[in-house]
Amino acid sequence: MTAPPDKTPAAIAGMFDAIAPRYDLLNHVLSAGLDRRWRDRAVDALSLPDGALVMDLCTGTGDLAIATVRRVPGASVVGVDFAGEMLRLARAKVRAAGLDGRIRLVRGDAARIPIGDATCAAATIAFGIRNVAEPERALAEIARVLKPGGRLAILEFGQPRIPGIRTLYSWYFRYMLPLVGRLVSKHQSAYSYLPASVGTFPPPAEFSRIIAATGFSQVRAGPLTFGIVYLFVAERR
Ligand SMILES: C[S@@+](CC[C@H](N)C(=O)[O-])C[C@H]1O[C@@H](n2cnc3c(N)ncnc32)[C@H](O)[C@@H]1O
Repeated sequence: MTAPPDKTPAAIAGMFDAIAPRYDLLNHVLSAGLDRRWRDRAVDALSLPDGALVMDLCTGTGDLAIATVRRVPGASVVGVDFAGEMLRLARAKVRAAGLDGRIRLVRGDAARIPIGDATCAAATIAFGIRNVAEPERALAEIARVLKPGGRLAILEFGQPRIPGIRTLYSWYFRYMLPLVGRLVSKHQSAYSYLPASVGTFPPPAEFSRIIAATGFSQVRAGPLTFGIVYLFVAERR
């Protein structure tokens, strides 16, 4: 049996800090540019009112935060992440895009989000929740930060259900992606950790039940691109 991936904060933050310089490039190359479309779908699924305040947890290099302020007039985002190097790159991108006034980036752990109770109209997480050691605790923290009725959108990798596509994708995800990831990032394990962490993440129906059990209602899970990615949307009770 394969050992479960090490999800201690030091291991995860250290890994993302190490791959940060190549993170965006590899995201776009390895997803053939689909990652941008997936983030746009997550923002649109929230149907945010103009001027909404959104928390983007596990914001990384800030792409979802940037997509949010570009797609929702007047919206502002607080991006939270515990990897300093990812945040440094996010800050540079936000500044270069002239979005400093609308995106604030803070260092913090999903287990203790440094934002007050009932502050945000919505929360987002893209490709972050499977890295969190205790997802239930992070979801409870998100529920705390959201106003009642606040909306949540989560993007996470899944596994395609159509048999032929599933086989092809599984080969790509288990063999090709770690190889390209290792060559480009020069990190020995980060892109092997990716399929390993997706393999141990609960399937969509089970993760939907976890979301519902941590203070959310109207939980919906929908596949994007044959189920390579799932978009979960919910409302804080
Ligand atoms: C795969 S990246 C996703 C980044 C970004 N959301 C995107 O769409 O590209 C995952 C990010 O989650 C962050 N992360 C993982 N666990 C975390 C935790 N417990 N608290 C805060 N950030 C965390 C990592 O540092 C990393 O930047």
